Amino acid sequence: MAESAIGGSAGRTSHEEVGLRFEVDGEIATITLDRPDRRNAQTFATWSALAHIGETLPQQVRVVVVRGEGPSFSAGMDLRMFTPEGIPGQESLADFALLGESAFEQRIAQAQQGFLWLRRPDIVSVAAVQGHAIGAGFQLALACDLRVLADDAKLCMKEPALGLVPDLTGTKPLVDLVGPSRAIEICLTARVVGAREAAVIGLAELVVAPEDLAGAVGDLTAALLTADRDAATATKRLLQGARNRTLEEQSAAERREQVARVKALFAGS
Ligand code: ACO
Repeated sequence: MAESAIGGSAGRTSHEEVGLRFEVDGEIATITLDRPDRRNAQTFATWSALAHIGETLPQQVRVVVVRGEGPSFSAGMDLRMFTPEGIPGQESLADFALLGESAFEQRIAQAQQGFLWLRRPDIVSVAAVQGHAIGAGFQLALACDLRVLADDAKLCMKEPALGLVPDLTGTKPLVDLVGPSRAIEICLTARVVGAREAAVIGLAELVVAPEDLAGAVGDLTAALLTADRDAATATKRLLQGARNRTLEEQSAAERREQVARVKALFAGS
């Protein structure tokens, strides 16, 4: 089990203080959004903590499970950020609006760091989603490589309805998974995508009964860990690059990865 703190040496904040739990069990790390009384609403502190977990992830970890405590995976950005008072100790959206454009973009980039590392080739990230995954919650699920949904899951990209764009790295995986037309429809209508539809349109690998969610994620995690570690990393890297390469380029990438694999397998023999 591991627990660490975020921030510099001064004013360190534990993950628990920002509503996160972080546990490591061998090759599996579990990040739990743990503010069920607020339906796991997220703040800038949440995103800093997620980024810190990524930066300090123990080297042995191969699978990262992202889950939420309580009835909802995450109700998205904490709506107090919209209020003039904001969240005690944190800047509100009104404060950000006063920043210069590049300083504001820098703040968003920091928040995005909490999501981007979940695509690292050396890990596989799995979102376990029950109940609502709204806005930032939906984007956190999209930041993961795989999504296992309870059949009560409700996905909703609510940002445009609130005058915002989805900016927590969710637009690319959404378009990659469902195509631009369906993504436009889902985002601009801010409608709820249920679990069954999510599976049909490619947003979920698996849909199970809510009581089976943890077990299904455990089974999937165990199956993912059966692959050779270095081969899994190389294969994920290969697959991630495939969409942006031609067939010839991808074939060349396969050759490069395979040469490295076979040389590593037979090194010293
Ligand atoms: N921010 C802050 N507090 C929240 C949020 C949120 N995003 N979502 C829920 N809460 C709080 C509620 O205010 C309530 O607090 P209270 O007990 O002090 O009154 C508590 O969590 C429980 O919420 P309920 O609405 O009672 O829970 P319910 O299960 O009925 O509904 C649901 C859950 C559907 C998620 C609902 O809370 C909701 O619609 N929340 C807002 C979702 C939203 O608009 N998010 C912003 C998306 S945009 C973005 O993420 C950038």
